[in-house]
Amino acid sequence: MIVRVLTLFPEMFKNTLGTSILQRAREKALLDIECINIRDYTDNKHKKVDDYPYGGGAGMVMTPQPIFDSYKAVINSLGSAINPKTIYMSPKGKPFNQQAAEALAKEDCLIFICGHYEGIDQRAIDYLVTDEISIGDYVLTGGEIPAMVVIDAVARLIPGVLSQEESYQEESFYSGLLEYPHYTRPRDFRGMEVPEVLTSGDHKKIDNWRRRKSLEITFKKRPDLLKNTKLTAKEVKIIQE
Ligand code: ADE
Repeated sequence: MIVRVLTLFPEMFKNTLGTSILQRAREKALLDIECINIRDYTDNKHKKVDDYPYGGGAGMVMTPQPIFDSYKAVINSLGSAINPKTIYMSPKGKPFNQQAAEALAKEDCLIFICGHYEGIDQRAIDYLVTDEISIGDYVLTGGEIPAMVVIDAVARLIPGVLSQEESYQEESFYSGLLEYPHYTRPRDFRGMEVPEVLTSGDHKKIDNWRRRKSLEITFKKRPDLLKNTKLTAKEVKIIQE
């Protein structure tokens, strides 16, 4: 997957994209990520990228010129065979979730536009953006952290990025439920013991225990998720207990 990020702060991405699973994905050429500094494309000598909002009000708005020109440079560098989705990170966007991550993971190219200050000139959104995405109902100082969140959630779904052991299929949200608890060695840690069933070697029993725990945890912490999950009559009984 090709990912291009238009931002005023490319240095913010260095650690996230250069560490652990994302770095490995880049080394395996499953992920080709580049950050482009919008400021490099300003056509004024002061390299100014923002201005006061028309109509007055607090804050500054990112001007359209460097955004359109940096975007055009990216599109030209990608060539005509590539048909990217262009994502603007904004609290006004569609709420991001696992389903949205799965849909984006099927794309072969994503271009992120990260706004700062009060955001970007609406004309850049109207003419360039295909998807406006929010990572939650709160306001951050810019779109960089939200873009990293989306890139991380999407990248790990690209086939080959996670190894078999890291595979996502049993995780929270995959089944529509929150995940069961995990334990590792030692079996007895300062008197706190691992649930016996997990050391029994009986895989049927272990699967049943995990499903039951998932149901209990989801019911306790996120009952809203149960509305979208198909449960057997027996499972409905478990959460009613
Ligand atoms: N930019 C600022 N806040 C944001 C949010 N909650 N989601 C996406 N982009 C943002």
